[in-house]
Amino acid sequence: MASRWNKDLTWNDVTPKAAFLNRRQIMAGAVGLGAASIAGPALSQELEPNSFEDITSYNNFYEFGTGKSDPAKNAHALDTLDWKITVDGMVDNAGEYTFAELIEGLTEEERIYRFRCVEAWAMIVPWNGVELGGILNKIGVQSGAKYVAFETAVQPENMIGVQRRVLDFPYREGLRLDEAMHPLTLMATGIYGEPMPNQNGAPMRLVVPWKYGFKSIKSIVRITLTDQEPPTSWNMQNAREYGFYSNVNPQVSHPRWSQASHRLIGGGLFNRREDTLMFNGYETEVASLYDGMDLSEKF
Ligand code: MTE
Repeated sequence: MASRWNKDLTWNDVTPKAAFLNRRQIMAGAVGLGAASIAGPALSQELEPNSFEDITSYNNFYEFGTGKSDPAKNAHALDTLDWKITVDGMVDNAGEYTFAELIEGLTEEERIYRFRCVEAWAMIVPWNGVELGGILNKIGVQSGAKYVAFETAVQPENMIGVQRRVLDFPYREGLRLDEAMHPLTLMATGIYGEPMPNQNGAPMRLVVPWKYGFKSIKSIVRITLTDQEPPTSWNMQNAREYGFYSNVNPQVSHPRWSQASHRLIGGGLFNRREDTLMFNGYETEVASLYDGMDLSEKF
């Protein structure tokens, strides 16, 4: 179903898989006729839609290797049968849930979000999923809980990157509870209306569109409510370079590169750089979460 949270991004900004080639032709024809008036503000920012192929062939999923094409090559080995998610910590309904149980009764939505990696590339992705807040309400967050921690599955025999220990696995991430409850925060279960491809984090992964992509942890097997800021993988790896918050912020450089702009992934002609927006374009929705915080210190 369409969602008000898509903001200025619509299906005009995403290329449905089957219509991809067809639309390229339409767009090529439309450019001279003022394409901006067809797709509105998104095209006037010259956002180029991403194909299913882009989204599923250019990935970060270190459990399956560090190269961008490694996940597409290796993630078929991920075993998603009988997926279980352990829910624990400060919750009323702790226990082991199947994937279906966890999302049962929640409204699945389609959300077309900008997705900005800390490495200064970006895509536009049509996710399907449920609001994380719905899951949290279901598991009954206890008063006093302040953070949500997540862990990715570890299947050493199936994950070539785990064998090579390229990070300290399991991959871990976390959000402050108010960030986790924000309606933009999605537990994504698919893209383009199809079940989540393994390389994108099957069967379900987080999507936090105003934060750098590494916060959007894949293939989740544990959700823990806690009153302590949880340890997170990239912060553990290098705290100077990767903060707990990791809000997209063009004014706060990574120690080794600027975050002021990024490369928009997308075929050939349209592959280009564009300016990075504060909170990745979601400032109106989320800036108040950080009122009074020094964002260069809490990066
Ligand atoms: N989750 C796990 N478990 N392992 C990872 O290596 N990479 C993160 C994030 N989630 C990662 C992960 C990074 S750096 C990014 S940019 C996004 O996943 C990439 O998501 P995508 O491949 O669906 O575009």
